[in-house]
Amino acid sequence: MAKGPDGKNTSGRGQRDLTVKVKTARGRRASSTRWLQRQLNDPYVKRAQLEGYRGRAAFKIMELDDKFRFLVPGARVVDLGCAPGGWCQVAVPRVNALGEKAGKAQGRILGVDLQEVEPIAGVELHQLDFMDDGADDKVKDWLGGKADVVMSDMAASSSGHKQTDHLRIIALCEAAAYLAFDVLEEGGTFVSKVLAGGAEGELQKLLKQRFAKVANVKPPASRADSSEKFVVATGFKG
Ligand SMILES: C[S@@+](CC[C@H](N)C(=O)[O-])C[C@H]1O[C@@H](n2cnc3c(N)ncnc32)[C@H](O)[C@@H]1O
Repeated sequence: MAKGPDGKNTSGRGQRDLTVKVKTARGRRASSTRWLQRQLNDPYVKRAQLEGYRGRAAFKIMELDDKFRFLVPGARVVDLGCAPGGWCQVAVPRVNALGEKAGKAQGRILGVDLQEVEPIAGVELHQLDFMDDGADDKVKDWLGGKADVVMSDMAASSSGHKQTDHLRIIALCEAAAYLAFDVLEEGGTFVSKVLAGGAEGELQKLLKQRFAKVANVKPPASRADSSEKFVVATGFKG
C-alpha cells in the first residue's frame, strides 16, 4: 500500500476530482487568478498535500529516481536549492537516512538553500547562497568527504525575461556541476534543473567529458508549458 513521508497510507485518498474555479477578485491581477486556478487544479499539488510532501517538486525527483535509481540505501546526497524540502523528503527513506531499514547501509543528506528550511528528520540543513564566494568550500567542509549524488533544483526567482532566466539557471547549474566534479565518488550521479534556451550546450559538453552517460529528461511532473528539464549525468569518471 502506498505511504507518504508521514508513514500514513495514501492509497484511496482523494478519489473525488472536482475542478476548482477561481473568480476574479478586486485587487488580484488576472495572472494571479490564473496561477491560483492552476495550483488548485494541479493533480500534483493535490497529491503533495494528500501525501504530506512540502511541494509538487517532490514528484519530479521521485520520477527521475524511479528511472535512474541513484537514491539507494547508503547514498551520500547533496541537495542544492532544497527549500521547502520536497526532494529531501523523498530522499530520506530511499537512502535510509534514518537507518530504519535493517541490514541496509545508512545514507546521509545535506540540504542547502538561500532560504531557511523547516527541519526534516534525517537531513542536515544549511542556509547559504551557493553563488557566494567560498560557498562550495563550506559545502565541502560540511560534507567532510565524498558524495554519491549531487542534485540541484536551484532556480532564481523569475525576472520575467526568458533569456535572463535561462542564463541565470545555467550559471546555477554550472556551479552545482563544479561542486559535483570535486566531491563525487567515482560512479556518482549529478542531477540538475536546466531551462531549455540555447546556452546549455557548453555545460552538456563538459558533463559528457566527466560522466559515462548524460540524459536530458522532462519528468511527467514537470509542467508541460514550462521550458524546465533535468539533466541526469551518471557514472562519474573521477
Ligand atoms: C524550485 S525551488 C526548490 C524546490 C525543492 N527541490 C523542493 O523539492 O522543495 C528552488 C530553490 O532554489 C533556491 N536557490 C536559488 N538560488 C540559490 C542560491 N544561489 N543558493 C542556494 N539556493 C538557491 C531557492 O531559494 C529555492 O528554494
